[in-house]
Amino acid sequence: MNITRDTTERPGVFITFEGPDGSGKTTQIALLADSLRSAGVAPVLLRQPGSTGLGERIRATLLNSRAEGNIAALTELALMFADRAQSIHEIILPALADGRVVLCDRYTDSSEAYQGAGRGLGAERVLALHQALCDGLQPQLTILLLPDVEAALQRARARNQHDRETHGTDESRFEAEGEAFYRRVHSAYAAIAQREPARVQTIGDGDIETIAARVRAVVLERFPALIERAASV
Ligand code: TMP
Repeated sequence: MNITRDTTERPGVFITFEGPDGSGKTTQIALLADSLRSAGVAPVLLRQPGSTGLGERIRATLLNSRAEGNIAALTELALMFADRAQSIHEIILPALADGRVVLCDRYTDSSEAYQGAGRGLGAERVLALHQALCDGLQPQLTILLLPDVEAALQRARARNQHDRETHGTDESRFEAEGEAFYRRVHSAYAAIAQREPARVQTIGDGDIETIAARVRAVVLERFPALIERAASV
């Protein structure tokens, strides 16, 4: 299925970050945001699920492994898109209309990888929902962090244990999935990157600084207007 309408006609810049749990997305978004800010560009940051009032409630429901043991795969998919539709309406479209740089931690590729492939619901169904509920809104650039499966999973589990012990939070519902689930997620991400090379830039394993430098290079190469404003980044 062709994913249509992108954001090129809008004045803002829409960039998404994708990758399996433990791929280091959140760290890399923060580093890119810092670079942009120090160059005088204040990005709008959001995560999916989350960031709106409704979205954070959906996030808590979906990710809390103890409270919700039995969410059907289709319910999970529907809630991911309910969250997405709300954040497009509340945050993304207004920011783009304002000419802002939007950095979004996960978007529809996550639903394709986790629900489409991981849960086995199929990419077609996910992309059909994307058309119906997101009006086909696509980022101009997606940074896909795709480290080795085992390494990413280990990092994600260690982070969850740490969060549970120090903050009492539990977002381990997805990481509790077996390795086969994560292999499907990984393959789906690789397939998306192959299908849409113009949008998706894959960055493999490396230390935090090396990856951050690659992320900056990709972003600045893709958006020459930002190069002028961020010459010192
Ligand atoms: P994260 O924000 O820490 O990356 O965690 C979000 C979790 O939710 C992660 O395990 C991936 C999962 N997820 C989906 O399964 N489908 C989606 O569409 C999105 C946005 C996230």
